[in-house]
Amino acid sequence: MDWVRIFDTTLRDGEQSPGATMTPDEKIRLARKLDGMGVDVIEAGFPAASVGELSSVQQVCAVVQHAKVAALCRTRTGDIRAAWDAIKDAKHPRLHVFIATSDIHLEHKLQMTREQVLEEIRRGVSYCRELCADVEFSAEDATRSDLDFLVTALKVAVECGATTLNVPDTVGYTLPHEYEHTIRTIVNAVGPDIIVSSHCHDDLGLAVANSLAAIRGGARQVEGCMNGIGERAGNAALEEVIMALKTRPTEFGVQSRVDTKQLVGISRMVRDVTGIVVQPNKAIVGRNAFAHEAGIHQHGVLASARTYEIMDPVDVGWTTNQLVLGKHSGKHALKARLESLGFPMDEASMVEAFVRFKALCDRKKEIYDEDLVAIAIGDKLVQGGKIELESIRFESGTDVAASATVTVRVLGRATRAMATGDGPVNAALEAIRMCTGVGDVVLEDYRIAAISVGTDAQGQVNLRINAEGVVASGQATHTDVVVASAQAYIHALNHLAFQRERFGQNPPRVDSDVLAARGAV
Ligand code: KIV
Ligand code: ZN
Repeated sequence: MDWVRIFDTTLRDGEQSPGATMTPDEKIRLARKLDGMGVDVIEAGFPAASVGELSSVQQVCAVVQHAKVAALCRTRTGDIRAAWDAIKDAKHPRLHVFIATSDIHLEHKLQMTREQVLEEIRRGVSYCRELCADVEFSAEDATRSDLDFLVTALKVAVECGATTLNVPDTVGYTLPHEYEHTIRTIVNAVGPDIIVSSHCHDDLGLAVANSLAAIRGGARQVEGCMNGIGERAGNAALEEVIMALKTRPTEFGVQSRVDTKQLVGISRMVRDVTGIVVQPNKAIVGRNAFAHEAGIHQHGVLASARTYEIMDPVDVGWTTNQLVLGKHSGKHALKARLESLGFPMDEASMVEAFVRFKALCDRKKEIYDEDLVAIAIGDKLVQGGKIELESIRFESGTDVAASATVTVRVLGRATRAMATGDGPVNAALEAIRMCTGVGDVVLEDYRIAAISVGTDAQGQVNLRINAEGVVASGQATHTDVVVASAQAYIHALNHLAFQRERFGQNPPRVDSDVLAARGAV
């Protein structure tokens, strides 16, 4: 059957969003979910970047059952070896090798002639093919490349064994009609046995439109990230591409094989892992995507949802935010509800989740779906890092200076500190910083929102810190917003510790210059 393969690069290109570094545990959690919802390829990382990255990709391979797991590499031998080391034990491994083909990149970045680039493709792709039966070749900056040269380069990759050809719009420059033409030209040149793939960045806000144009031009793989995260303005938002195919089937004649009911669930998980919030008006997964404000719209929707809704919210995983469970609900009810929200729970996670659920019921009368999602994923994010919050006490008010005393465990060893501040959050964060001895940390962004309704709603805190140029984010939910802030801060500090361990002070980008400068080969 002819279908559009969904290639999810949230764990690789998505991770290149500032502050979105993921620990191995977080990559594993996302990969499981992506696999369960039916994406065809999960790009797990760029193993040549560091030993830690290579190991994260290996750990992802161990849990993915159905999807292919791809690792990205440049054409250099060291990169290819690292990528293969990382994925060779996957059930379905794929090597994804790239080199730039635009004259701009050839002249200013690679300092190579076109002939040298072709030679590099021959060498790199052939070596990949010796190691792995499934090889994808990407022509970086394809859309600013001379089309004849691009086609020549892609044909060389096919001769050397690539079976998927990716045509990245690396800098988000192309327009839908142009990209459709480029893709059609390539499809006609390489024939029906080769899968041609789109990979669009959103610098002009056209990543999804360009991806859909590519499908009309014959692309049968689309690369992108959930929530549209990624380098600079982001990648094509996969949930939008998937739902456009489903909602306008006659325009495309091909579908993806993703279970669309899991889109809201994966979107929340990506938000919680990366700390990158989803704008309320974001298509498909934004809080307001199906909210009808104007009276005339509400009236129409009540009469028939089809008047103003082109998709059924249930089809993408929205459920009504009604009261679902309470303190008398049992483990089975909780498990069933979490599963219907897209979070299958094994025995061990269920035991933990039930304990958290009961603790939440003691603090909060009414438990909503969003609370349950936080139980399924949110709380877990702050556990398992090197730094853990053991206890926190604070005082503040109109007639007392704010202060906080925290006990934090760093690699199991408890330390305690007291700090004063402008308010209890400020004091708590300062006390934690003192305990962990991380040095100067600037709080670059701090957001708090209630995740459901009522004065006892859980507060969700998303924050971003910058420690001497290394950016990390954290997220946590709790009915007490100071506790949520402390946990989110610790989540971010764990991300920071992980980045420092993995890359030193300067986390790399895939950009070849940066990597070459760092000697990452
Ligand atoms: O945007 C891009 O060109 C990429 C490639 C490395 C696939 O991410
Ligand atoms: Zn990219």
